[in-house]
Amino acid sequence: MIQRRTIGIVGIGNVGKAAAYALFNQRLASEIILNDLDHKRAEGEAMDLMHGQMLVGNVTARAGHYADMADAQLIVISAGASQKSPDETRLELLERNVRIFEQIVAQLDEHAPGAMLVVATNPVDVLTYVTQELSERPAERIIGTGTLLDTARFRALLGRHYGVDPRSVHAYILGEHGDSEVPIWSNASIGNQRIKEGPINDIAFDEHAMQQLFENARDAAYQIIERKGHTDTAIGVVIARIVRAVIEDQRSVLPVSVRANGAYGIRDVCLSLPAVVGRHGIAGRVTPTLSTTEHEGLQASATVLKESREGVTV
Ligand code: 2OP
Repeated sequence: MIQRRTIGIVGIGNVGKAAAYALFNQRLASEIILNDLDHKRAEGEAMDLMHGQMLVGNVTARAGHYADMADAQLIVISAGASQKSPDETRLELLERNVRIFEQIVAQLDEHAPGAMLVVATNPVDVLTYVTQELSERPAERIIGTGTLLDTARFRALLGRHYGVDPRSVHAYILGEHGDSEVPIWSNASIGNQRIKEGPINDIAFDEHAMQQLFENARDAAYQIIERKGHTDTAIGVVIARIVRAVIEDQRSVLPVSVRANGAYGIRDVCLSLPAVVGRHGIAGRVTPTLSTTEHEGLQASATVLKESREGVTV
């Protein structure tokens, strides 16, 4: 018997649509259920995807309601308001999106209590925490996309700077997916050589250039929003990467938003830390030794995130 694999997406805006496209194109599901308050919009996106089925292979996309996601192994939540201008921070979106999440999580707990949840809506760290508070399912089964996107941007820029494949770059951005995020330089390496010990590929280590490069990764969303009004493509691929780690039980180490468990003196907040991602969600943690600056940076990021949810009632 062929095993069917259903993935749901709640919220078919730019990000949900990009996630659907990435999942479809990578054939990560046998069935993708697109759920949106605007059911017709979800239908339109599903129809558009299905016209590529002959070229992609055996993946079905269809618009569905919460009840249609009862068999889903994993559900992506990309619903909610998004950053509308380059001046708006992710944290400013919070209050609006918490109210939306209350309704979504109640529906998902009723109709798809067994599914893993991947939260992509911003501010993603706080909304991952809120989802964990609202949902009956264990916290390990609720992951935020976190700084996997920032890390991908960082590695792409580092790869370009050093003239190497970004997949040969091992460097993380951890903490908040946002302004307080922290580049982890102390362990960053290319081909097992620490970047700080350069030169690599005949390119000398340049502290100023590295700081600039990190800032470009950190501020990428603002730069893209200024140009095209929103970001979607890269986050779609990031979602597909997390989905693949889960459905193939890869136990990949990914910087995703998880509930801090006391490592680095941080708890009671969700932020990105290297985590082992597999079939059951977060299967373990990796705790690299950080420099004092990085350690303090992570703690400051946790404080920013805790303060940002103060005043929001869940
Ligand atoms: C991004 O970083 C907006 O969080 C989204 O692209």
